[in-house]
Amino acid sequence: MAILKIAKMGNPVLRAPAQEVPDPTQPQIRALVSDMVETMVDAGGVGLAAPQVHVPLRIVIFHPPPDGAKEEGEDGEPDAEEGAEEGADPGRLTILINPKIEPLTDEQAFGWEGCLSVPGLRGVVPRFTRIRYTGFDINGHPISVEAEGFHARVVQHECDHLDGMLYPQRMTDLRLLGFNDEFDRHPLDLGPSDADEDEDAAAHAAAAEPASAEDQPAKG
Ligand code: NI
Repeated sequence: MAILKIAKMGNPVLRAPAQEVPDPTQPQIRALVSDMVETMVDAGGVGLAAPQVHVPLRIVIFHPPPDGAKEEGEDGEPDAEEGAEEGADPGRLTILINPKIEPLTDEQAFGWEGCLSVPGLRGVVPRFTRIRYTGFDINGHPISVEAEGFHARVVQHECDHLDGMLYPQRMTDLRLLGFNDEFDRHPLDLGPSDADEDEDAAAHAAAAEPASAEDQPAKG
């Protein structure tokens, strides 16, 4: 077990497409995932992709948030859906190897994101609100999960890392990218009064969750 160094925006490993994992059950993969978990926990992130620790392989890990997930896999626990809805097990970790994402709707929502590879910043990013993700777990068993809301957002963010994409590149209004301490000191006013002076920003911000010191965005 080891805490790995996290690559920051500008490092070429974050721009390159990652490679498929030939055999998810290999001991080296298990060791890497173990180190990724330790690194993510140490850094206080909700997700981490292998390229962020300088390994160009298609592996992501994340904590499924409690806002709803439907297990489809035959290995899924019968009470997984109920548990997710109740937020009974928000700390449960998902390890997803060679993931694929299929949007289940055209609808996108704006929400705050941060990234361990873009420290100190956060921004408002559009993401599909409902997706299905598939892939393999550490034992080589297939995973197929429908996710929505924040869960879907985290998975899209992490899988973007495997295609050399960071969240600022997904943003449609870079005025809504900024430093955490500034957004903490000057929270975006989501009220209608903003609309007069800054119609676009207000429209985007209105769809996003509020930014405040008490509501830090998840870092992945
Ligand atoms: Ni990230």
